[in-house]
Amino acid sequence: MIENNNQIRDSFGSKFGVIAAAAGSAVGLGNIWRFPLVTTQNGGGAFLLLYIGFVILIGIPVMLSEFSIGRRAQLNAFGSFKKLAPGTPWFLVGSLGIITAFAILAFYSTVAGWTLEYFAQAITGKLSHVNDMQKNFADFSSQTYRPLMWQFIIMLVTSVVVFAGIKKGIEKFTKILMPVLAVLILFVAFRSVTLEGAMEGVKYLFVPNWSAVSFKTVLMALGQAAFSLSIGMGTLITYGSYIQKDNHLLRTSTQVAITDTSIAILASLMVIPAIFAFSPGSDVASLSPGPGLVFEVLPDVFKSMPGGSFFSVLFFFLLSVAALTSTISVLEVVVAYLKEELKLSRGMATLIAAVSISVLGVLATLSFGVMKDFTIFEMTVFDLLNYASANIMLTFGALLIVIFVGWRMGKSDFINEISNQGSLKSNLFKGVYFIIRYIAPVAIGIIAIATFFIQGIV
Ligand code: PHE
Repeated sequence: MIENNNQIRDSFGSKFGVIAAAAGSAVGLGNIWRFPLVTTQNGGGAFLLLYIGFVILIGIPVMLSEFSIGRRAQLNAFGSFKKLAPGTPWFLVGSLGIITAFAILAFYSTVAGWTLEYFAQAITGKLSHVNDMQKNFADFSSQTYRPLMWQFIIMLVTSVVVFAGIKKGIEKFTKILMPVLAVLILFVAFRSVTLEGAMEGVKYLFVPNWSAVSFKTVLMALGQAAFSLSIGMGTLITYGSYIQKDNHLLRTSTQVAITDTSIAILASLMVIPAIFAFSPGSDVASLSPGPGLVFEVLPDVFKSMPGGSFFSVLFFFLLSVAALTSTISVLEVVVAYLKEELKLSRGMATLIAAVSISVLGVLATLSFGVMKDFTIFEMTVFDLLNYASANIMLTFGALLIVIFVGWRMGKSDFINEISNQGSLKSNLFKGVYFIIRYIAPVAIGIIAIATFFIQGIV
């Protein structure tokens, strides 16, 4: 593929590089910060089961759809739809993806910034001397400059990696950090589940309580699956456009989904049992889980745990790494779009994307301070971006993507793409296409519509 500036289109160099980058995108604050949060708010084990069902039934098919769209078109999320369905309004799905990238990165960079603050507090030893963790979090997050400074640093590091390109930036960064992350999570989760009293937490996670399930729970599980797998907004269309033609896309999608789900489960095993172990008898929901769960309850756990300060440094380090390998994938969606559609250089595209997203990001960060009383639909800017992006925008995006592949791209083009022009044979290909064409759209559609009518949109 020749680009406008006569260079070969950048691509991932190896199969492991593709997995590292895509799993790097998937594994993030969604797994470690958001997952325990929504799980504890929505019935523990029952939520987990629904979640796993959605990963298999909807997650993998949507991921595969995105990879195949991007690799076929060799373009960004917006350009891909324009190229594969010229003269139709399908490009709007790409536009929705770009807008969603703005919404996600804005609030995500707030939380990613908090992880840096906590990493700093952990490494300087300050965190182990805090008496009131709730107050510590509230004092910090309600400030103006300090959270903004960390958010700025996150956006800066993200921009530097994205600016360096696919092979030399994103692939290199994630190939080194993802294995480190996996080892650290295993280590901390092992510590957590071997604490005395941790079994109550493990039970809470794995024993389903169906009475806690409502339509909203189902929507939240679907939204969380979409958010965690990075599907529904074109991240994986963009990454798919950098995947080489001989890659087995179905295998790659399955490996990424398994990695992401295992890490979400390990992360819950890291967070929830530790909380139970240190506040025995308490039910997690009564610990008022909010955005601060990981920043309030967990640091308390670390404080009372043997070797806790060491584990808190590890934990906040791994959280920062997980966040950064995801922020780069969201920024790349917008950068690829600006670069290819507006014919900007990578540097200029990165600068414009990062600065404009940061403007919205500032509003998200200040939602905990000077803008905490500024609400839309009774939610702060942060809460609105968090709720709307995962539960509405990504869900809707995922729905449109499967409809696109199932009904517009069609069976022969899709099978041709995932079988690498017929060179791979598998009985699964037709089955996945069937899910994409019939099952996934119906399932996503029913959940979205039912939730809307039964509970209202928020
Ligand atoms: N999947 C990421 C996480 O779990 C967040 C994300 C969402 C990244 C959408 C890209 C696109 O943290």
